Amino acid sequence: MSQVEIIPQPSVRKTMPGAMPMRESRELELGGSASLTIDADAEGHAALARKLDKVRKQRTSLERRPLKKRLTAKLADKHELYQLSVQSPEEDVAFLRKVYKGYRKKKARHFREDFCGTALLASTWVRTKSGCTAEGYDIDPDPVAWGLNQNLRALGEDASKVRLVLGDVREPSRKAPDVRCAQNFSYWCFTERAEMVAYFRSVFEDLADDGVFVCDLHGGSETQEEMEEEREITGGFTYVWDQYRYWPIQAAVQNHIHFRFEDGTELYRAFTYDWRLWSLTEIRDCLHDAGFQQVDAYWEGTASDGESGNGKFTLAKRGEADLSWIAYLAAVK
Ligand SMILES: C[S@@+](CC[C@H](N)C(=O)[O-])C[C@H]1O[C@@H](n2cnc3c(N)ncnc32)[C@H](O)[C@@H]1O
Repeated sequence: MSQVEIIPQPSVRKTMPGAMPMRESRELELGGSASLTIDADAEGHAALARKLDKVRKQRTSLERRPLKKRLTAKLADKHELYQLSVQSPEEDVAFLRKVYKGYRKKKARHFREDFCGTALLASTWVRTKSGCTAEGYDIDPDPVAWGLNQNLRALGEDASKVRLVLGDVREPSRKAPDVRCAQNFSYWCFTERAEMVAYFRSVFEDLADDGVFVCDLHGGSETQEEMEEEREITGGFTYVWDQYRYWPIQAAVQNHIHFRFEDGTELYRAFTYDWRLWSLTEIRDCLHDAGFQQVDAYWEGTASDGESGNGKFTLAKRGEADLSWIAYLAAVK
């Protein structure tokens, strides 16, 4: 690590929950030509350094074997399996760029990924178009360290176009984003309406003047069922989405992700989510209350089997009564 700089905090916005913690901005060298700026408090930097050291050692020993041989509960890397199972970064970034261009008739440059975890979208954003920059925000040093070692390091010199903040998504950006997103329903960790509106208000105030916020959501009657859904993933393992509990009075859910392997072992509860099951109309109303005047829904098309989604999202007014659906909302500033 080199070049430690204590940065003054951006002005605290009215919507921030309490005073902002002191952040130090540090330049982190990732090896080769890759380096980037990380903002965290002193404890966060120390945690990140420890985790990064651990993940480097783990990955060095894992990468001696091909993925197929690592697919057992003992050897599997949960972040690697998560990315392979639930993320489609190229498609997602292309969609975000298209949505922005549709409203603004120009290219989006600066991107912010909230709840970034391994910062796969932020990395993909700067990798796939020149002249683009990104910020990623997450409170957990564990996925962030993994992302630094795997996704950011792989960018080489382009890593310097990304800034990561080990902090709460309600913190203001270092530079106002053209596009800001919350992906894979992560913002459903805000379970009270006032909390959700406060988050969206911080997003509204933070975006560039012509910025767009995009979040995904899911729904349909099956989302209220306690059930498991298995999906075979190319590479030779099974992804399991476990809707373990649904409590109707609070619209609260507890969901888990497990990974099952061909040798009969299982990485049980690799990830756990305690969320409120928000409806599309509730989220849209919260976005309006936060200041966004225009909020549009993008609905997924149907694949040739006539049942599953085809991964293509287009502007829609009504949607369909699918048992399980995924959609996006775009909130235009
Ligand atoms: C489901 S993962 C998202 C991973 C990835 N970005 C994706 O789209 O699939 C949710 C992430 O949100 C982070 N998180 C939860 N609450 C947060 C908060 N208030 N501020 C920042 N990050 C938060 C967790 O640490 C976790 O990495």
